[in-house]
Amino acid sequence: MTKTNTINRSPIGFSQIPDKQVFEYDRTYGANHYGRLEVVVRKAEGLWLTDVDGNKYLDCLAAYSAANPGHCHPRIAQALIDALQGNFASVISNVVYTDTRTLFLKKLTELIPQIGPRFGDHGNKGLCKNGGVESVETAIKMARYYGWKVKGIPDGKQELIVFSNNFHGRMIAVVSFSSSKKYKEGFGPLTPGFVSVEYGNIDAVEKAINKNTCGILVEPMQGEGGMYQPPKGFLKGLRDLSDKNDLFLVFDEIQVGLGRTGKMFCFEHEDVVPDGLVLGKALSGGLVPLSAFVTNSKMMDLAFHPGSDGSTFGGYPLACVAGVAALDVLTGEGLAGRSAKMGAILKKKLDDIASRSSHVKEVRGKGLFIGIEVKSGDAMVYCRKLLDLGLLANDSYGHTIRISPPLVLDENDINYICERLEKVLVD
Ligand SMILES: Cc1ncc(COP(=O)(O)O)c(C=O)c1O
Repeated sequence: MTKTNTINRSPIGFSQIPDKQVFEYDRTYGANHYGRLEVVVRKAEGLWLTDVDGNKYLDCLAAYSAANPGHCHPRIAQALIDALQGNFASVISNVVYTDTRTLFLKKLTELIPQIGPRFGDHGNKGLCKNGGVESVETAIKMARYYGWKVKGIPDGKQELIVFSNNFHGRMIAVVSFSSSKKYKEGFGPLTPGFVSVEYGNIDAVEKAINKNTCGILVEPMQGEGGMYQPPKGFLKGLRDLSDKNDLFLVFDEIQVGLGRTGKMFCFEHEDVVPDGLVLGKALSGGLVPLSAFVTNSKMMDLAFHPGSDGSTFGGYPLACVAGVAALDVLTGEGLAGRSAKMGAILKKKLDDIASRSSHVKEVRGKGLFIGIEVKSGDAMVYCRKLLDLGLLANDSYGHTIRISPPLVLDENDINYICERLEKVLVD
């Protein structure tokens, strides 16, 4: 993309330090734990990211689904401004009540169909954390506790079935069962109690079940693992096995929930309801960190008592204010339906590009959760070219270009995306 003259422009963003200095400071003072693309984003609004020169990039990554309602959605941003100006935004100890947390939890748990209906029609309860991985760990605690308390598995012997190419975050417990060497090499000792089987292979799951199996942790569609949908019937198969063997079935919808795949919750595609659900990323509209573990009220009351869990910032007012506004935006603006509609239009156009491209192996996905797998296996080569054309995308599992823009895109945006993909994928 041609850079515009930087003199006499109006200021954009937090500071005016030049890009060169940002690169230098970041490399000097920050950990080198991301292979970053060479752009400094100074402003994020709707679908668009802007650099210091005013160059715009359509964001096809949306922070891995965190920015589902579009960056800095005015309604969510205003709710945060009101909270800050009204002096109810500061972190408040979780030993007292706040109306913000209460109202957020009410809205969230009522939005979700009865989780774990086999435990009875008790409603849902939620437990708030910050980053997604924290709520995944809350779910793991729940499944282990269920195994011990209800199934009588000796404490310390509980096992969870997990899947190849899973991604549940980067902290010790979850990297311990990652299939990816780079996530865990050198970080031992790793956490025991996880048995990994092939994603999509229901026979392998059945074989892995033993007397110590307490639950199953699965992504209903895999994001970081290559943008895969499991074979039809797989989730139903997991539900049947969980019912038959009394296993606590947890769906991690941190990336694929909240409208991303064209339904509010990914599990609605197959009408299979889990016993525990993990949400994050878009839960606060992408403005502040917020994640939650949600389960049947009876199960939440079984596992968690004062002292058995907690978090300083988990469910703090600013996050919950954003959460209430984000859920209102998601439902009020019909973003799941929009994702289904726009996703179908985009997918059709991408299929057409793929049919004329010698680079594309496969296009797959649902709603605005679409992957373009390239034959060379190196998707970043194409992502770098796309950046120069004003489009931000990155790879999933090395081989797949991830197309997951904010859910508010329209047909003009789809044309913008496709024109650029055409340029890099069709010779
Ligand atoms: C399915 C899934 N689970 C968990 C996580 C971890 O979330 P966080 O990075 O907020 O800890 C992610 C992040 O990409 C994810 O995609």
